[in-house]
Amino acid sequence: MKLGLKTAILPASGAADTAARCLEGGGLVAFPTETVYGLGADATNARAVARLYEAKGRPSFNPLIAHVGDLQAARRIARFDDRSLRLAETFWPGPLTLVLPKAPGCPVSDLATAGLETVAVRVPAHPVAHEILRAFGKPIVAPSANISGHVSPTTAEHVFGDLSGRIDLIVDGGPVSVGVESTIVGCFETPLLLRPGGLPREDIERVLGEKLARVPEDHNSAEALPLAPGMLASHYAPHTPVRLNAHRLEAGEALLAFGPRMIPGSERASVMNLSEAGDLVEAAANLFGYLRELDARGSHAIAVMAVPNEGLGEAINDRLQRAAVPRS
Ligand code: TXA
Ligand code: MG
Repeated sequence: MKLGLKTAILPASGAADTAARCLEGGGLVAFPTETVYGLGADATNARAVARLYEAKGRPSFNPLIAHVGDLQAARRIARFDDRSLRLAETFWPGPLTLVLPKAPGCPVSDLATAGLETVAVRVPAHPVAHEILRAFGKPIVAPSANISGHVSPTTAEHVFGDLSGRIDLIVDGGPVSVGVESTIVGCFETPLLLRPGGLPREDIERVLGEKLARVPEDHNSAEALPLAPGMLASHYAPHTPVRLNAHRLEAGEALLAFGPRMIPGSERASVMNLSEAGDLVEAAANLFGYLRELDARGSHAIAVMAVPNEGLGEAINDRLQRAAVPRS
């Protein structure tokens, strides 16, 4: 790929037309959504999608989410049934991605869907994402705007740190509000929770009137064509090793804390608290930024206190478990 691109950063106000022109020309544009920053490309342009995979260093068997402005636009690319329609009408715009059968004539490039018969669709809630989608008028594929496998970006600075020189434009809309990626639901015969995320599973189950099954982990290897191919075991990873469920801090470790109580050994250590009040929404919003910040402090390891596995805690624990997978 042509490295050494000059990556421009624009404040969000008034940037939508520039962003749309850049996308139209096959460019790569990072922009804020309510979950994390996305790296956008024209979903209908295979060359642009190929550039996107290359800029992120992402395996091309890992398909992308197509972002659209509303349900009507979503119906041009995917087939909805009663159940998926109910989810879309209840939760869009918002942090929910639906994996659905492609609509006939679906304009999303086969490269973006990795040749699958299904397509992942989402209507984001962020006003800047909306303006860009409206100005562009076509679906935009957007993975998180980080180098593949690294911690997802929640500010424009995070995006710049990972992708400067590799993409054309960053639209800076300030820090995002949710802080973890969208929840992905596979709308198959049995609805599947493909990825826990910014919309708690409990809310979805209430609307469906049934439980969401989880995908067995062994479906997610790189060899088998995985059901949620992005769920590769090591992901969201800082460079520093991560140790989970810490009850005491070892020498040389930094601490990612949660809740009002501290653990022994943390007195003189580098500590960041996801939420002193024990609030999972606040913790999700802080998660990736704090991981990046502790990573920059050069400790031997990042020890993490336990986070309850309910509501947004399921997404937080999913990301932490992947960050803690030993890497070679
Ligand atoms: O919040 C989000 O969803 C963010 C923002 C930018 O919208 N995007 C995001 O994209 O997290 P990404 O590429 O980092 O994660 C997309 C996930 C991957 O795990 C991918 O494998 C899965 O969606 N996916 C995409 N298309 C799929 C399909 N047809 N079937 C199953 N999984 C799919
Ligand atoms: Mg990602």
